[in-house]
Amino acid sequence: MWPDRIGTVLTAVIVVLLAGATVAVYAYDPVDNTATVEPVDGRTVFLTKGCTGCHSIDGVSETGQIGPNLTGLPDRAGERVDGLSAGEYVRQSVLEPQAYIVSGYGELMPTLPLDTDELDALVEFLLDPGT
Ligand code: HEC
Repeated sequence: MWPDRIGTVLTAVIVVLLAGATVAVYAYDPVDNTATVEPVDGRTVFLTKGCTGCHSIDGVSETGQIGPNLTGLPDRAGERVDGLSAGEYVRQSVLEPQAYIVSGYGELMPTLPLDTDELDALVEFLLDPGT
C-alpha cells in the first residue's frame, strides 16, 4: 500500500508545483503596462520646438515676427511650388527650409531637430491648426 500512497502524494506535489510555476509564468509580465506612450501632438511640437520664436499662427501663438505668419498656410501651401502638394511643401519647408524662400524673407530658418513622429504631427497640425 505504501508505494501507492507515495506515488499519489508525489503526483499531488508535482501537480501543485507545476500549477505554481504556470501561475508564476503568467504573472510575469515583461511589458510595463503603467508606462503609456503619449501620442505626439503637433501643436505641442510647434509650441515647444522653437517655431514660435519666428512664426505666429493666430489663436495659437502670436509673438513670432521673424518668419512669415503661418495663419492661412493650409490655403497657400499647395500653390507655393509647382508639383508639391500642400503636405509636401510644408514638410519640405521644415526639413529643407532653404529649398524655397518665401518672397520678402531671408534664408534665416534653421533646420530644427525633429524625430519622424514629431515631424508627421507638426505637418498635420500646420495643415489643420484648428483655428
Ligand atoms: C530663426 C527663425 C525661424 C525659426 C526658428 C523657424 N522658422 Fe520657419 N521660416 C523662417 C523664415 C525667415 C521663413 C521664410 C523664408 C523661407 O521660406 O525659408 C520661414 C518659412 C517657413 C515656412 C514656409 C511658410 C510659407 O508661407 O510658405 C514654414 C511652413 C515654416 N517656416 C515652418 C516652421 C516651423 C514648423 C518651425 C519650427 C520647427 C519653424 N518654421 C522655425 C524663420 C524661422
